[in-house]
Amino acid sequence: MKALVLAGGKGTRLRPLTHTSAKQLVPIANKPVLYYGLDAIRDAGITSVGIIVGDTAREIREAVGDGSRFGLEVTYILQEEPLGLAHCVLIARQFLADEPFVMYLGDNFLVDGITDLVDAFREADYDAQILLTKVAEPQFYGVAELGPDGEIVGLEEKPEHPRSDLAIVGVYTFSPAIHEAVRSIRPSARGELEITDAITWLIDNGRRVHSHFVGGYWKDTGRLQDMLECNRIVLEGIERSVRGSVDGFSEITGRVVVEPGAVVENSVIRGPAVIGADTKINGSYVGPYTSIGEGCLLENAEVEYSIILGDSAITGVSGLTYSLIGRNVEVTRAVGVPNMNQLMVGDHSKIQVRA
Ligand code: TTP
Repeated sequence: MKALVLAGGKGTRLRPLTHTSAKQLVPIANKPVLYYGLDAIRDAGITSVGIIVGDTAREIREAVGDGSRFGLEVTYILQEEPLGLAHCVLIARQFLADEPFVMYLGDNFLVDGITDLVDAFREADYDAQILLTKVAEPQFYGVAELGPDGEIVGLEEKPEHPRSDLAIVGVYTFSPAIHEAVRSIRPSARGELEITDAITWLIDNGRRVHSHFVGGYWKDTGRLQDMLECNRIVLEGIERSVRGSVDGFSEITGRVVVEPGAVVENSVIRGPAVIGADTKINGSYVGPYTSIGEGCLLENAEVEYSIILGDSAITGVSGLTYSLIGRNVEVTRAVGVPNMNQLMVGDHSKIQVRA
């Protein structure tokens, strides 16, 4: 069995971060979200992995390399344009050959991994297996409608008026029958070859498609709130480990990871939280559910429930919450203009200031 990991796409919902970097590499508890998926694939006993890459190909290749670090053999497949999930299967035909495979959306996160799903598929005789979970806002997902006996009656991609609250989780297993399906469908109204249409084609052509409910936690990390929520869940499970230096004036409470080379002075850190390598925290408060990347500086700052990527500086700023801050960002206090905010912000940024 092989794996096809989708790490192309536009990532419009996570702009401006995705103007400069791949959304699959945004860190959750300081580890890129894609790495959790690659670990899950390896843990399911799969070693041959094709990764679909687009505009951010270089960055993904640099991060994942030949895959040996994960115990995988990785082949990169370039998608010139993000023409849909089923298009990814179409262009991976040669890599996939005639083997069954698991398709994994590179920005998805499953706490319990995919071993059960892959094992179930290996034992059964399905042409496709999809994972479902109940969600609050089904209009943002692929949605499945089930019949009285749990059979799939219909599948729709991001429907305006969803017929159920069952979202399709971004991990699928397929037999080689999917290749005929992706060749047979036409692009949808939004111009993409939809995997939901390909699976519907399988059902309409008498193929066996099975659905499974996800037991554990799942998130599509394509939106800010999902990213922060996922970060919270992962941080809930960390163990305390202080390997950086913490001075006697600082207070570290609960499950906090301080990576080697990090320096904490005169500060309060309330876990769960992760402080990246070589980050300096001085005179600051870091509250629960915060991940701070490597090489950052926090000085006279207060931050909680946030993700800060590497090499950013927050100085003299309090009350930062529910925030996602990119790399090499500076957030400082405006000097000489009391009660005013000074901004130099990239395209598609979102800033919410105190009322
Ligand atoms: P999506 O999140 O559905 O699409 P997107 O990345 O374009 O994001 P947005 O909606 O915010 O613009 O994609 C799911 C995953 O599949 C993600 O990891 C990107 C990847 N993908 C591809 O590799 N090729 C594609 O053609 C598409 C549509 C997605």
